[in-house]
Amino acid sequence: MSILKLLGRELMEEGWRRFVILAIISGLSGAVVLATINLAATSMRDVDVMVNSLIILIIAIVLYVYSQKSLMVMAALLAEQTVHGLRVRLLRTLKAAELIEIEGLSRNEIFSCINSEMRVISDGATSMMIIAQSVVLTAVTMVYLAMLSLVALLMAVVFIGIAAYIHLSRNRQIIDEHERLFQLNTEMMNGFGDFIDGFKEVKLNTARSEELTVRVGTQSAVVSSRQLEMQNLFSVNFVASQVTFFLLTGMMVFVLPLFGSVEPPTLVKITATTLFLIGPISAVVGGLPAVQRMNAAADAILALQGKLSEIKRWSPTGQAAISEFAWIGLAGATFRYPAPEGENAFMVGPIDMRIDRGQVVFITGGNGSGKSTLLKMITSLYLPTSGAVALDGRPMQGNDVVAYRNLFSAIFSDNHLFKEFYGIPPVDPKAAAGYLELMEVARKVTIVGRSFSTLALSSGQRKRLAMIVALLEDRPIYVFDEWAADQDPYFRKKFYREILPMLKSKGKTVIAVTHDERYFDAADIRFHMEEGGLQRVSASAGPDGNAPPAEH
Ligand SMILES: Nc1ncnc2c1ncn2[C@@H]1O[C@H](COP(=O)(O)OP(=O)(O)OP(=O)(O)O)[C@@H](O)[C@H]1O
Ligand SMILES: [Mg+2]
Repeated sequence: MSILKLLGRELMEEGWRRFVILAIISGLSGAVVLATINLAATSMRDVDVMVNSLIILIIAIVLYVYSQKSLMVMAALLAEQTVHGLRVRLLRTLKAAELIEIEGLSRNEIFSCINSEMRVISDGATSMMIIAQSVVLTAVTMVYLAMLSLVALLMAVVFIGIAAYIHLSRNRQIIDEHERLFQLNTEMMNGFGDFIDGFKEVKLNTARSEELTVRVGTQSAVVSSRQLEMQNLFSVNFVASQVTFFLLTGMMVFVLPLFGSVEPPTLVKITATTLFLIGPISAVVGGLPAVQRMNAAADAILALQGKLSEIKRWSPTGQAAISEFAWIGLAGATFRYPAPEGENAFMVGPIDMRIDRGQVVFITGGNGSGKSTLLKMITSLYLPTSGAVALDGRPMQGNDVVAYRNLFSAIFSDNHLFKEFYGIPPVDPKAAAGYLELMEVARKVTIVGRSFSTLALSSGQRKRLAMIVALLEDRPIYVFDEWAADQDPYFRKKFYREILPMLKSKGKTVIAVTHDERYFDAADIRFHMEEGGLQRVSASAGPDGNAPPAEH
């Protein structure tokens, strides 16, 4: 069971032992309560028996209270530890995952994993403990029943066996139903996501708005009706198990005497015992759906973890930063996007490329020619399918990649602007103010502590803030993917004529994707891309006076 696997990760061996002992004490004390009451009820006249029974009863109840409470607290603690552990592990897995894996994931799958699936586990743990305790209680009560009458035990076992069979035969159905429900739920969430993310497009087009509303509404109805079907399965199961007990108790009174002489007091004890069994067995039957839900949730969580852990990863710990280098490049590097079987995946390369430290490099090419993909290869965000990324001619492998990535500060066309300055060295307020002036946003934004005062800006202005972040990061290599495309002509000129030369004068390397023909002269070298292939277009001497080798 996946859920045991998940919970087991948090529960050490000692924890299991404590858990089993508590479940046994709790189950046993419950059964002792029944036996003592039965004994006392049939020994009304014997004062000694009555007094002893009362003392045992009180001890049993105290033990029951203590063990049951500890069990529940332990369950809640275990569930919270597990869920916290899962969140941390998921965070760690996300941290270690590669871009290409994250791009292949549904955002809603991750969110629903963190939200609903983990809540199921958090809420269901108590059910698991009640089940464990009830199983013990049932077993002990059965032993007691056997002591009263073997035939009664046999009848009880047969009846409960039938009920269990009915229940288990529906189990598979319920589990399948839950998995399907999870998928449907994710689809519905995608619909809501479309609504929010595409709100402008939806608002401007009534027909689109209608169609999307109908689609999401239908999905919601399907989710509800599936949920109802599942609840139906549960209730049929529940009613069936209750009826089994009514029948069983009736049988004890009407049929048991036919199998031989049973003393009336024993018959009363047997009936009381059968009625007593309703509690724990109902707890098991009633709690199983929660466990099944937990199990399905655990499956979903493990599946997500599995998807995230297919590629080998590197841990960034203990990695020395690269301080000196003369050039970076690609050596016969190719990158192919994953594609469904039978479909042609887009491929970039093979590419040989050399970029010297301090150079300003432009990459041009038509839409879809592979420029952004190439930037992700150069920054090593996409690991090459074949060939290698190299630093001073040395291929970057394993842990090198982590240090290599930290050479770059990049602004991709779909960059994410963090309000907080995560991972940026302590900000010198004077330098920061200077950058705000340079990017001409000082009237709109200030830097408060380690964050921007606001991000409520135009898209061009947000790109300028991203530039400030990049400048504050102060890495040796800058990567810009059509940064100037969002800027007005005045600022575009400033980018090519002021900012790039400023970076160059600081010895920074710049790799920029651009469509701005009038500024092509701002580059030391320009590469042109076509259908994933790269060609060097123009060259000027490198910063050290040596022309880099010709590339294709
Ligand atoms: N996430 C992806 N999964 C699969 N294929 C992709 C993905 N992103 C891009 N591609 C493929 O790679 C090709 C190149 O995309 P890329 O984004 O590198 O182009 P580009 O040159 O940057 O274009 P643009 O000028 O429009 O930004 C696309 O035509 C597409 O076939
Ligand atoms: Mg692009």
